[in-house]
Amino acid sequence: MYYAVLILFFALLLVKILYRRIEVSFKITKMIDLDSIDFLVDVEAPEVAERFHPGQFVMLMTRKEGERIPMSIMKVNDGKISMFIRKLGKTSKELRDGISSFENVIGPLGHGIEEKAYGTIAVVSDAVCGHAENYAICEALGKIEGNNIISIQTFSTKSEIYPDEYLTKKIAHRHFITTEDGSFGDKGSYVTTLKRLLDNDVKIDYVFGGGKLPTMKAVSTILAINNIDNLFTTRQMMVDGSGMCGSCRLYIDGEMKLSCVDGPMFDSRKINWTRAMKRYGMFKKEEKIADEYYEAHKGGCGQCQK
Ligand code: FES
Repeated sequence: MYYAVLILFFALLLVKILYRRIEVSFKITKMIDLDSIDFLVDVEAPEVAERFHPGQFVMLMTRKEGERIPMSIMKVNDGKISMFIRKLGKTSKELRDGISSFENVIGPLGHGIEEKAYGTIAVVSDAVCGHAENYAICEALGKIEGNNIISIQTFSTKSEIYPDEYLTKKIAHRHFITTEDGSFGDKGSYVTTLKRLLDNDVKIDYVFGGGKLPTMKAVSTILAINNIDNLFTTRQMMVDGSGMCGSCRLYIDGEMKLSCVDGPMFDSRKINWTRAMKRYGMFKKEEKIADEYYEAHKGGCGQCQK
């Protein structure tokens, strides 16, 4: 009798697992362009949405044999996660060209930020992933009493600025836009505006940021001079996102860390930026080959799936 109950229990468990595997579908419910190169994707991923904390990320797979791409989450709502994605390489172009669901959405991964009162916080970003992280952080910390949030978002030019509802305009206490060519707001990156605020004696207690490595490296010097605590996302060069491949390794205060499991956010003052930037360029050649192959074969011959 005991064995019969045990067998029945495991049989039911197996059915439940198999049923869930069949049932889980990461359906894309919305996809719209934010500008000529970035787009927004909403996908059904209730288990990810339920456990997400700002600062964490997911790994996306468009198909079984495809690569895994790390992606920041901008917002969670009603079992769905929203992400900003750039049409940059083969997988993101494949996605924008008409995929209706993901094969898998793995996460949330990495450590989220501590959701508490910090005082005056600057949240800065200058790239698609950084803008998504910026939104999630502003939204979470803006709800906590004692936080005063200054958001600075950098775009390359005026025509690349996202529509208002996808900026942090309404959820930050002060909002600045800078453009690299000076066509809107301060000319240059968020570093220019942050430095101007500090030069004008605005007291900033903490900085969160993400985006391009050279900008993060530049801001780390300013944060060191002003002795400001901070966390910056360095999620570059991830392959598996689970601590197995070692691809995302960074050197923090001389010690090797894995961005996917130890991060993805670290104190910018402690990061060895020279090594980080060298590793970032490592797979550029392979990415270019895959992208060119996809562009040449995307018309339906099926070769781009190889
Ligand atoms: Fe492989 Fe971090 S992505 S160890």
